[in-house]
Amino acid sequence: MDMITPEPRPAWVAGRAEQGADTLVVRHPLDGSEVATVAVPGAEQVERAVAAAAGVAREFRRTPAHQRAAALEHVSRGLRMRAEELAEVITAENGKPLKWAEAEVNRAVSVFRIASEEARRFSGDVQRLDADPSGDARLALTRRVPRGPVLGISPFNFPLNLVAHKVAPALAVGAPIIVKPAPRTPLSALILGEVLAGADLPLGAFSVLPLGNAETQALVADPRLPVVSFTGSGPVGWSIADAAPRKHVVLELGGNAAAVVLRDWPDPEGAAQRIATFGNYQAGQSCISVQRVIVDAAVAEEFVPALVEAVEAQQTGDPYDRNTDVGPVVDEAAAERIIEWVEEAVAAGAKLLTGGTREGTQVAPTLLTDVPADARVWSEEVFGPVLALSVVDGVDEAFAAVNDSAYGLQTGVFTSDVQLAFHASAELEVGGVIIGDVPSYRADQMPYGGVKGSGVGREGVLAAMNDLTEERVTVFTGVDL
Ligand code: SIN
Repeated sequence: MDMITPEPRPAWVAGRAEQGADTLVVRHPLDGSEVATVAVPGAEQVERAVAAAAGVAREFRRTPAHQRAAALEHVSRGLRMRAEELAEVITAENGKPLKWAEAEVNRAVSVFRIASEEARRFSGDVQRLDADPSGDARLALTRRVPRGPVLGISPFNFPLNLVAHKVAPALAVGAPIIVKPAPRTPLSALILGEVLAGADLPLGAFSVLPLGNAETQALVADPRLPVVSFTGSGPVGWSIADAAPRKHVVLELGGNAAAVVLRDWPDPEGAAQRIATFGNYQAGQSCISVQRVIVDAAVAEEFVPALVEAVEAQQTGDPYDRNTDVGPVVDEAAAERIIEWVEEAVAAGAKLLTGGTREGTQVAPTLLTDVPADARVWSEEVFGPVLALSVVDGVDEAFAAVNDSAYGLQTGVFTSDVQLAFHASAELEVGGVIIGDVPSYRADQMPYGGVKGSGVGREGVLAAMNDLTEERVTVFTGVDL
């Protein structure tokens, strides 16, 4: 599909398609070929988008729930109708294999559908206050009110679904949103803009502005956007929190997610398959792709050769080829950095079991063992198709290794022992524990987010709706309780 259009793809300024003051060329990560050109709005357009968001906030939050729900349903249907096109666009701009791009589109369809369902249910709470004599005949009604217009800054690794996770909850609660997509992957967000434009939403309820970093900093500082929801790298995320200490800032940052294989797990080979797949899906460019593999010595003999075999079976190549499991990473600089980190670990004593090479942006699926704890492939987020394996003795050592990290997003624990599952859930310092599978599992309706260096706040449609709103209490007196 030819994505190059005669005119640059328009930005969405307060709900309307507009050409910009500048343009941005989007390139395919595999070979650097031009995919499309998009409009970059100028200062006057950005100002109009922000003023419109602030101006419509009051009206929008008071629209009936059924109207917002219908708009979200419309978007869900619109994405489904354009699913094939969207998957190809995601593969073109991001480089992820088509099968993963298709999965991403399906998830975005669900996110808007879930948001439409939640918009109808989202109601608040009633609390009787007569638990003490001072509250006799009093009742509190708690409703959730949007904190205000949202600035959503999204990353390149899920160019559609992580935009959906910002837009859908905001619209569900009636909060206007300005989306700033990643400069490498703005196309899916702009197509989402087209679909949003066909929904019954007030002008100003959404904008999609493919901006550079300097303009984004100005938006972060703008008091008319009291909520900033950011997904991306730690340094950028924390600098946003520091730059806007009075704002409500949601940070979905990275991690070095661990998969733990305990001795009771009946199918170590199956675990190895899942870990190889989800260490390499999207070339490891997911915040919850498996990076650290922590295996109990009691099953290592069976597990390790199976993991080597499963990693070597991952098919690299053209992301449009349906047999490809692992496509390119986002750009040459990322590929170079990943290999540098692998070489650094090997120089520090790690053993390379497979991989460790690259051709351009295509990094070979890589498995290391005996990695020193301070090597970056263990302690930092690789964001590439690299697994680092550690053999430990028992549950306590395994969980201590998971927690010995500056991050805490999700952990997968392969156990079928229900007591160990509860223990993992209590003990592991992460936002999510996945029992019997990899940390990469995410259902779009569940709360999702991290602790420690992995961020603050939660996404997942309902969790985000709660996060984007604050409680307002109304106390009724003289109530016949
Ligand atoms: C992420 O990379 O943070 C998102 C992962 C997902 O939505 O599956």
